[in-house]
Amino acid sequence: MMVRVRGSTLSVSASALLACLPVALAFSPSFPYGTEKVRGVSLGGWLVLESWITPSLFDDAGNTGIVDEWTFGALQDGSTAQQALIAHWDSWITEADFAAIAAANLNHVRVPIGYWAWEVGPGEPYIQGQLAYLRKAVDWASAYGLKLIIDLHGVPGSQNGFDNSGHRISQPQWQSNQTNIHRTNSILKRIASEFGPQYQTVAAITPINEASSPNTLELIHDAFEPLDHWNGWQQPPKYQGVAMDTHIYHMFSNTRASWTRSQHISYACGQGGNLQNFNDQLFTIVGEWTPAVTDCATYLNGRGVGARYDGTHVGSLRVGSCAGLTGSGASFSPSYKTFLRQSWEAQVTAYEKASGWIMWTWKTERADEWSYQAGLRYGWIPANSTARQFPGICG
Ligand SMILES: *[C@@H]1O[C@H](CO)[C@@H](O)[C@H](O)[C@H]1NC(C)=O
Ligand SMILES: *[C@@H]1O[C@H](CO)[C@@H](O)[C@H](O)[C@H]1NC(C)=O
Repeated sequence: MMVRVRGSTLSVSASALLACLPVALAFSPSFPYGTEKVRGVSLGGWLVLESWITPSLFDDAGNTGIVDEWTFGALQDGSTAQQALIAHWDSWITEADFAAIAAANLNHVRVPIGYWAWEVGPGEPYIQGQLAYLRKAVDWASAYGLKLIIDLHGVPGSQNGFDNSGHRISQPQWQSNQTNIHRTNSILKRIASEFGPQYQTVAAITPINEASSPNTLELIHDAFEPLDHWNGWQQPPKYQGVAMDTHIYHMFSNTRASWTRSQHISYACGQGGNLQNFNDQLFTIVGEWTPAVTDCATYLNGRGVGARYDGTHVGSLRVGSCAGLTGSGASFSPSYKTFLRQSWEAQVTAYEKASGWIMWTWKTERADEWSYQAGLRYGWIPANSTARQFPGICG
């Protein structure tokens, strides 16, 4: 998570990471991309904190200046922060989650993790320990027959300035700083060398999540270009094992926030054609999306930042009250739950015209409209990911 409009990053197979350097390597994926659809979910808010996914971790820390993982380490006692993180890593995702994900007929899990799991530079307040959990996740994925995508969600200097990169800052420093780019490359090589041999489970690596502007690094590009910008770029056979990862959200602009429910469904269905065309050239996976259509979830736009939907975000135009649209699914009306089901089905229908989808996110503390687990519990996501209640929703 997450781009405010929409973005693209590249997914590269672990075994083929080096194929993005000038020498192309042979590559044989452990999942039949192109013939079977990717159906998956991200484990958001686990190894990279996001205040809207686990608001309690932030509220319990007290200091309202704690807005991301950087300030989580910087603005409280180090051992208090470390103990809170360890308790969180131990409990937020466990083997039981992998069992439930597999039982829902999903085939991929995507695990966001920050560069600081591998390397903390001088003056960086990050706390380490995540890597052991990533290794456990690979074992659990393997045990339940799931493919795992390692998603480098935060890079040195921050690639987008959002809390989800680890460091919420107004001027991201990754793109403009060669040291940061070199550090990122060397961390990617470490990831590839440790996890590449486990390609049967670690099917892909997303080198940089949602970078905010163009750059020259060979592995990634602008997050805000339309898909057709990429036509002809890094196509097989020259670059084997590269896929496009596009992120589609419906709420991060005043215009989108004001769409009616039927406009959301039409927009979702309308993505199918583009995605299918692009997928003909390069496997395209919608690597982040959600059935939610508002930005009402507390702290979604950052701790202390309001929502466009109810007009509490600076510069937004109120659409309506957020009451009943976020929180526990137990409080959602039957018509809202039906709409979430339609939103979910319209999107997966469109995204399966390309190579498939990975929903953001598996669980949240109190924003159930974003939670796959809550969707299963309250019925707006089918127990089996291939089942449909509205098979004709996209006409
Ligand atoms: C899901 O449904 C499909 C199609 O009906 C079926 O082949 C598959 O076995 C089901 N998977 C699970 C985990 O129930
Ligand atoms: C580039 O980033 C590094 C940290 O990776 C930092 O030490 C250095 O001061 C930055 N350089 C500039 C010119 O900002």
